[in-house]
Amino acid sequence: MDRHDPRPAADVPERRGAHCLRAEPEAETVAKIVITGASGGIGAAAAIELTRQGHDVLATGRSASKLRSVRERMVGAAAPGQTVPDPIVADLSSLAAVRVLAEDIAARWSSIDVLANNAAVSPTRRETSADGYEMMLAVNHLAPFLLTHLLLEPLRAAGGRVVTTSSGAHRIGRIDFEDLQMERSFRPIRAYGRSKLANIWFTSELTSRTGLPASSYHPGAVNTDLGRSSRLAALAKPLMGVLTRTPEKGADTLVWLATDPEGGAPRTIYYYDRKPGRMSARGRDTARAVRLWDVSAELVDV
Ligand SMILES: NC(=O)c1ccc[n+]([C@@H]2O[C@H](COP(=O)([O-])OP(=O)(O)OC[C@H]3O[C@@H](n4cnc5c(N)ncnc54)[C@H](OP(=O)(O)O)[C@@H]3O)[C@@H](O)[C@H]2O)c1
Repeated sequence: MDRHDPRPAADVPERRGAHCLRAEPEAETVAKIVITGASGGIGAAAAIELTRQGHDVLATGRSASKLRSVRERMVGAAAPGQTVPDPIVADLSSLAAVRVLAEDIAARWSSIDVLANNAAVSPTRRETSADGYEMMLAVNHLAPFLLTHLLLEPLRAAGGRVVTTSSGAHRIGRIDFEDLQMERSFRPIRAYGRSKLANIWFTSELTSRTGLPASSYHPGAVNTDLGRSSRLAALAKPLMGVLTRTPEKGADTLVWLATDPEGGAPRTIYYYDRKPGRMSARGRDTARAVRLWDVSAELVDV
């Protein structure tokens, strides 16, 4: 989990998610929704809830076995006769794998209503991706940046939208363009925070450059595996259920932005509990957002 939003837990009621038994799905129109990082945590909870609502959800993740068990839960949440797409395995720490993932998705779906860029990592040491980039920059920012670019056509075909999971941790993020790979100075929390700031800048630039409706959000402090490599998080594990919200509640704003008209014409680029969130002044720094977009395009070669 990450706990960077100091505000009290929200008043959004817990959703019953996969455990809610329904005879009929509630969606009036079935949307085609792609979710990255759907093998656990917030992404899995969103995939299950959106399936329960009757949507076609294409879950992606890097672990085939975790995706299999999430798919079983999606099938359990689906209405009788509803098809649940087979998930796609892809490791987003490789840009080549992101390209293959985009091809696989586009081969299945020529139109996409929602792309939910949700996957992220939070290692406690500096790691590098298959392409030699700092890992959190690679998985949390460059992978969704590239995947979205490669799926623009199917998104436009559907009049689709993009939802990206950011974090209140964006407030501690700063982007040093002179040391983008953090070779000179690496602090895990700063690296994570800047990747979440990058998610917000990506969101604002995506809309201004492509016209696609795009939003980001903070899910709150959620009891997931995100902090698995942190010793502090391991020690605090027994308290997690008390200090944090459930993945279902963390996924609530994602589900809402994916399905509500608000997500198709966002009022803001950063939400928290279905309302405009408290974004840092840096989040609105358009000049730096433009610069990051241009640098990212070079790094991923688009
Ligand atoms: N938990 C919180 O308190 C919190 C707070 C604010 C924001 N967030 C954000 O919420 C989002 C979801 O995180 P979470 O809390 O649900 O954590 P999580 O349980 O660790 O889920 C992260 C997901 O991303 C996947 N992933 C990680 N590295 C990947 C890679 N290289 N290739 C493909 N998939 C990869 C994970 O797959 P594996 O299962 O194989 O690891 C998992 O499905 C993230 O964007 C995170 O920054 C979380």
